[in-house]
Amino acid sequence: MNYALNLGIVTGGGRTGKCSEQNLMREILRHRPFLIGILAGALVVASLGFFVVPFLGVFNISANGNAGPLDWWGATNMNSSLYWRTEDRAMPPEASEAKGLEHYRASCIICHGAPGISPAEWASHMQPRPPKLLEQETQEMSDGDLYYIVTNGLRMTGMPSFGQDHDEADLWNIIAFVRHLNQLSDLEKAELKQHDNPHH
Ligand code: HEC
Repeated sequence: MNYALNLGIVTGGGRTGKCSEQNLMREILRHRPFLIGILAGALVVASLGFFVVPFLGVFNISANGNAGPLDWWGATNMNSSLYWRTEDRAMPPEASEAKGLEHYRASCIICHGAPGISPAEWASHMQPRPPKLLEQETQEMSDGDLYYIVTNGLRMTGMPSFGQDHDEADLWNIIAFVRHLNQLSDLEKAELKQHDNPHH
């Protein structure tokens, strides 16, 4: 079968490009049932994976222990989802880190902490663990990425969506504060420390 396929292409290619394309097309059509079989098989395997794996509880959803394949799956999906969905938006000049501090203290510090301020103890037992937002990985994200994440949250990570109870101006204030985390004054640190950090 291979020999026939090769022969078809080689003899076709020897004359003109168009002819070789026609031969290739003819060969593909001739093997149509075989190719359809492969596609159908792949579809069945993919459906089994999609439906059977969750029903059987193949992946352990416990938040204990190290990251596993499910975390890789989630993180890869998250990165690709952000790649396709975030918009290229710039922070408006009126965004105020002073206003953002209030929101950060009320809604973010408990999980993400801030320089010199620890998050709640239980936050370090989350999987994935909320990152320190001062770190390069977060600060390298564009303003548009940060806006999308804070507005919409990250499903299945524990990161809530804040766009439902904050208007656009406040969301930008929060992001202005995230950008300001590396230049906190002593006064700002003292203000942040006043948050109500639950402890067991
Ligand atoms: C209940 C805990 C929790 C709260 C509250 C929370 N976050 Fe998160 N946040 C997370 C988790 C968990 C992640 C995802 C970590 C991952 O995927 O690796 C995350 C991810 C993020 C990211 C992406 C960072 C990165 O490098 O991938 C940003 C930005 C962020 N949060 C900002 C905020 C801001 C701003 C607030 C407050 C308005 C906030 N978060 C409140 C838990 C929280």
